[in-house]
Amino acid sequence: MTEPLLTVRNLKLDIPVASGTLHAVRGIDFELNRGETLCIVGESGSGKSLTSLALMGLLGKRILRKADQMTFDGTELTTMSAKELRKLRGGRMSMIFQEPMTSLNPAYTIGDQLMEALLLHQPVGRAAARARAIELLEKVGITAAESRLGQYPHQLSGGLRQRVMIAMALMCGPELIIADEPTTALDVTIQAQILRLLVDLTREMNMAMILITHDLGVVARVADKVAVMYAGELVETGPAADIFATPCHPYTRGLLRCIPLPGKTERGSELGTIPGIVPSLVGEVEGCVFRTRCDYAEAACREAIPHRTNGAHRFRCIHPDGMRHAEEVPA
Ligand SMILES: Nc1ncnc2c1ncn2[C@@H]1O[C@H](COP(=O)(O)OP(=O)(O)OP(=O)(O)O)[C@@H](O)[C@H]1O
Ligand SMILES: [Mg+2]
Repeated sequence: MTEPLLTVRNLKLDIPVASGTLHAVRGIDFELNRGETLCIVGESGSGKSLTSLALMGLLGKRILRKADQMTFDGTELTTMSAKELRKLRGGRMSMIFQEPMTSLNPAYTIGDQLMEALLLHQPVGRAAARARAIELLEKVGITAAESRLGQYPHQLSGGLRQRVMIAMALMCGPELIIADEPTTALDVTIQAQILRLLVDLTREMNMAMILITHDLGVVARVADKVAVMYAGELVETGPAADIFATPCHPYTRGLLRCIPLPGKTERGSELGTIPGIVPSLVGEVEGCVFRTRCDYAEAACREAIPHRTNGAHRFRCIHPDGMRHAEEVPA
């Protein structure tokens, strides 16, 4: 078997806060092969964005990162110098953020920013960089691409700006792209288009992608692998087909009950919601992080929770199949 493009082992992210240490990410493991799409899902505050920033080496100074292993194509990321990391970032791995205005510089033209992305990382001249910028703007569906090069970010609509961001992230032909809720700032009608474009391009260019999204419908359509995050832990990970067919962790099953399924959910019927709130992440959490909201919680859930594996499908629960058998299987 070839080595995964990305391997993360026991990644922990701690943030000192007034009341102690906030353990925002608590020892997560995952891997990603070339060309694969991993979707990270989980409710707000579960640590999805911090995880992606940790991979890109873009965490704020206050945040302490520890990992047994965090390798990209065999190279350890945690011990890389700032210079090496800059070279990797925007070159072999790049990121698309939620809000394009925070990543595009208002003072420079679209053309200059796109070209700079390439000139910084590859030994090419300005003419070649300009040609590549036009090629990618066309690829992301922007018409009259050449005339857009001289425009500034504020002259473009939100949807166009996000297309430019995607073009910029692709300038160097990265092997890994991390997209953190790349469309939530856009109109609903445009969201689907942009996401489709991103997914098509990653496939066409054989890039691996980590896609963070709240939209489980999107996950069902595009993910090869799914990682379900809750309160800083990965409670369940595995091939997307397994997660959707036999979700094991009670939290995953709660999430899946929240999506309307075509043909199964009656119009107007209530979607599932998970009662309760996420526990405080300050200090250590004993036992299962989900137990305060779990229908099947019992005394043993306060103890250490085993990691259960079934091939590539992993989850953490004291119950061998997460009490899956206890639930009615929808027809
Ligand atoms: N700079 C910071 N200082 C203090 N706490 C932080 C900081 N950054 C993140 N956190 C906390 O770390 C936790 C994880 O944050 P993160 O942004 O990764 O969540 P998320 O899963 O991306 O949520 P969302 O879906 O809302 O984007 C949250 O509890 C958040 O409040
Ligand atoms: Mg986030």
